[in-house]
Amino acid sequence: MRVISLAGSPRNPSRSTALLQLSQRWLQQQNVEVIPYTLHDFRADDLLHANFNSPDIKAFSAQLATADGLLIATPVYKASFSGALKTLIDLLPERALDHKVVLPLATGGSIGHMLAVDYALKPVLAALKAQEVLHGVFADDSQVVLSGEQFTLAEGVTARLVEALESFYLALNRRKPATLKTATSLLARQTA
Ligand SMILES: Cc1cc2nc3c(=O)[nH]c(=O)nc-3n(C[C@H](O)[C@H](O)[C@H](O)COP(=O)(O)O)c2cc1C
Repeated sequence: MRVISLAGSPRNPSRSTALLQLSQRWLQQQNVEVIPYTLHDFRADDLLHANFNSPDIKAFSAQLATADGLLIATPVYKASFSGALKTLIDLLPERALDHKVVLPLATGGSIGHMLAVDYALKPVLAALKAQEVLHGVFADDSQVVLSGEQFTLAEGVTARLVEALESFYLALNRRKPATLKTATSLLARQTA
């Protein structure tokens, strides 16, 4: 199984990326291949000028096409997900998340915006035809604390994250692969 992880914060170090990194380690322990991406893997020029021909964007889309799932992390910015992340999402093909399971992760300064993923990010993931978008994990800044050069997650957050990752892992396993759908439509045509 292959999963793309995408860190959607323009900042470094990043609290939301800390959630992603723990998730990557957990999945790798379950023998899931994780291909990590951050916004910094793309040229700002390509993102700002919506360069659909960018080789980096094309390579990312190609990786995404062969993946079973997407782990996506974002900070809450102005009660939504980060605008920088949107500039990347805007350049993806229309059905970029077809047949994929998605687990969204977010951090925010205020618990008042804990539903930002639900009302802002999830509709966008659905527009990209995600097969299944799981219940995400939100942590506020007091739960992701910088100690030295690393972020430490509050115990409760780690527990919620692991629970969400278990669901993600199960969903990856029951995912209907693209090849199955193709085979089904071939069969339907043959028997028509
Ligand atoms: C430009 C900007 C806008 C923000 N807007 C919000 C907001 O509307 N609601 C909120 O809860 N936190 C807001 N925050 C706080 C961040 O969401 C929070 O610090 C988050 O953990 C940062 O994640 P990161 O370190 O991965 O970038 C904002 C921060 C910045 C820099």
